Amino acid sequence: MQFQALKLVYFSPTGTTKKIVEDIARGIDHGSVEVIDITRPDARQVRLQTSENDLLIVGVPVYLGRIPALAGEWLRTLQANDTPAVGVVVYGNRAYDDALIELADILKDRGCRPVAGAAFIGQHSFSTDTTPTAEGRPDARDREFAEAFGKNVGEKLQAAPSPGTVPEMQFPGIRPYRMETCHPYKKGTPFWNVDFIAVSDACTQCGTCAEGCPVGAVDPADSRVIDTERCITCCACIRRCPVHAKTIKPGLVMDASLRLYSNCRDRKEPECFL
Ligand SMILES: Cc1cc2nc3c(=O)[nH]c(=O)nc-3n(C[C@H](O)[C@H](O)[C@H](O)COP(=O)(O)O)c2cc1C
Repeated sequence: MQFQALKLVYFSPTGTTKKIVEDIARGIDHGSVEVIDITRPDARQVRLQTSENDLLIVGVPVYLGRIPALAGEWLRTLQANDTPAVGVVVYGNRAYDDALIELADILKDRGCRPVAGAAFIGQHSFSTDTTPTAEGRPDARDREFAEAFGKNVGEKLQAAPSPGTVPEMQFPGIRPYRMETCHPYKKGTPFWNVDFIAVSDACTQCGTCAEGCPVGAVDPADSRVIDTERCITCCACIRRCPVHAKTIKPGLVMDASLRLYSNCRDRKEPECFL
């Protein structure tokens, strides 16, 4: 089966998911790639339609064992017509729980045919200098693995006469999904609506953090002002600050960071389902 267009969708506040899906695309080696980065709010205003002549790769991070609610909301507006699709989740070396099965379920529901899937490891969003969980991941080994996975996906599709001839895929995970989704506007989950970011005097008000916030929670006129109701604790503002002026202050998120560092140190490896 030949596909005409390779479409790459990702939600990636701290950039690890972006790296992995780009590596997978490199492995597929299709020439032109259409990149749909749905990290920023304005990008999520645009809907996507795909056909049976496309190959769709969708990458999202794992948030509390699920896919981020904002990414799920956007994906539920996708209009696909028998589109072969690859779901990819990236997690911070704890677990991906039901995120991959949830992603595949949404893709299928929207008219895609999941032909492969994968779970990769990225530096944990809550990692700090003193709690460096999965620091530097994806590393060179992960990225080679991602590229090889892309190559295998390309070969699998080449060998199939049509998307309909690819046997239905099974992914790890449990239905109903075990954890409640991380929804920024739903209260009650452990991380939402927390005031957890410290801003030091090093802040130059350059606006990089406001620009990179996936929910517009940082005031563009004053980067010190963060709307804690909107904040999804993705830590993009911390990771992107060019002068390291933003850090996690003591509290719920720091406690999680400490816990993760003591409990999730053993290196996990990527898993591919083909
Ligand atoms: C709110 C939140 C919840 C998270 N939940 C999990 C989780 O359940 N399991 C895990 O291993 N990592 C978890 N992570 C870590 C991210 O999945 C991981 O760091 C990922 O690489 C981030 O992707 P990005 O760089 O594309 O933003 C969580 C991160 C955040 C911000």
